[in-house]
Amino acid sequence: MKTKELIALTCVAFLAACSGTKSSGDDFLSENIKFAHEQIGHEIKTIEESGKVLNPVTLKKDGSTFYCNYGDWRSGFFPGSVWYLYELTGDKTLLPLAYKYTEAIEQAKTLTNHHDVGFIIECSFGNGLRLTNKKEYEAVIIEAAKSLSTRFREKPGIIQSWNVDRGWQSERGWNCPVIIDNMMNLQLMFHATKLTGDSSFYKIAISHADRTMQEQFREDGSCYHVIDYDLETGEVRNRHTAQGYAHESAWSRGQAWAIYGYIICYRETGDCKYLDQAVKAFNFMKNHPDMPADLVPYWDMSAPNIPNELRDVSSASCIASALYELSTMDVENASSYKAYADKMMTSLASPTYRAKPGENGNFLLMHSVGSIPHNAEIDVPLNYADYYFMEALKRKKDIETK
Ligand code: GLY
Repeated sequence: MKTKELIALTCVAFLAACSGTKSSGDDFLSENIKFAHEQIGHEIKTIEESGKVLNPVTLKKDGSTFYCNYGDWRSGFFPGSVWYLYELTGDKTLLPLAYKYTEAIEQAKTLTNHHDVGFIIECSFGNGLRLTNKKEYEAVIIEAAKSLSTRFREKPGIIQSWNVDRGWQSERGWNCPVIIDNMMNLQLMFHATKLTGDSSFYKIAISHADRTMQEQFREDGSCYHVIDYDLETGEVRNRHTAQGYAHESAWSRGQAWAIYGYIICYRETGDCKYLDQAVKAFNFMKNHPDMPADLVPYWDMSAPNIPNELRDVSSASCIASALYELSTMDVENASSYKAYADKMMTSLASPTYRAKPGENGNFLLMHSVGSIPHNAEIDVPLNYADYYFMEALKRKKDIETK
């Protein structure tokens, strides 16, 4: 073969590998893992060259990267993505970095001023423990669960999400706000019960899941973002939104947290009522007349200008990851959950949503929405969109290589 032909063939192969449009199977997985390896590798290089332990979250308006500290609810996602990258590639050079980025946020285990300690510690230390069995990480998880337990409020039987003594939350007239996102923190409580045998964490998780199921959902399976409880009587004071379009709208990432959160509860308890709730929340999205053909939801499914509304990629990647787990559970239609997740992943891995290598501030996915009502992080990459994309790749791989 002549040199020119060889170069042409090599280019075709390289472009095919970079196209990210294959729909399923080994090629899809290996091409996306290769992309993530390269892209996260660029970010790691940037971090290591800085001489600091930076924790990337998103891009600021000026195009520079926003890095957070341990107290930010998103501080566990980048370390978690590095753990998944290590797991998916077997690249041992990632291991000391995963340890370093994880251990840099250890102080988060003491946080008692918001509910997000579950997100933070499970994505970082939780994955680290799963992959390395490093004993010291158990103590971090247990201490974090104790911190989260301090936010349990007996009367309503829930874990309080936000404090109301400062910031924009203090301006809403709430007494004890609980957001649907909080379902994700229950993973930490179930984990701590397994590590200690102490059922008090488990009981808090069940109480929270049950009250949330009772109060936070509408008949059609959509959920409220915020339920405000009365700390003295335990009654509901308000059903509101903070990040959605309206109090009665369906904020898509909230819907994702609900689906994923109740799948956790079913996994950890075996109680079918949680499975039913997860499926109901998913069916609301699946059957929504405005769900786009590529299955990447609008930021709020009740937003007024659909189809001219922004999509939220973070909602799609979280739902895809949740559906892969759902498809492994012994339920009717399990294979259809896998097919739906595959279709979402095909969209996310297409050039519409997946960044070109070396672009997008080294984040994997574009077009997520943080909070439109707060005019914050609109149509940007977000580290949690990337984290759930990585997790979805890992879950897809597990299913397909079984
Ligand atoms: N947990 C905050 C959010 O989903 O934006």
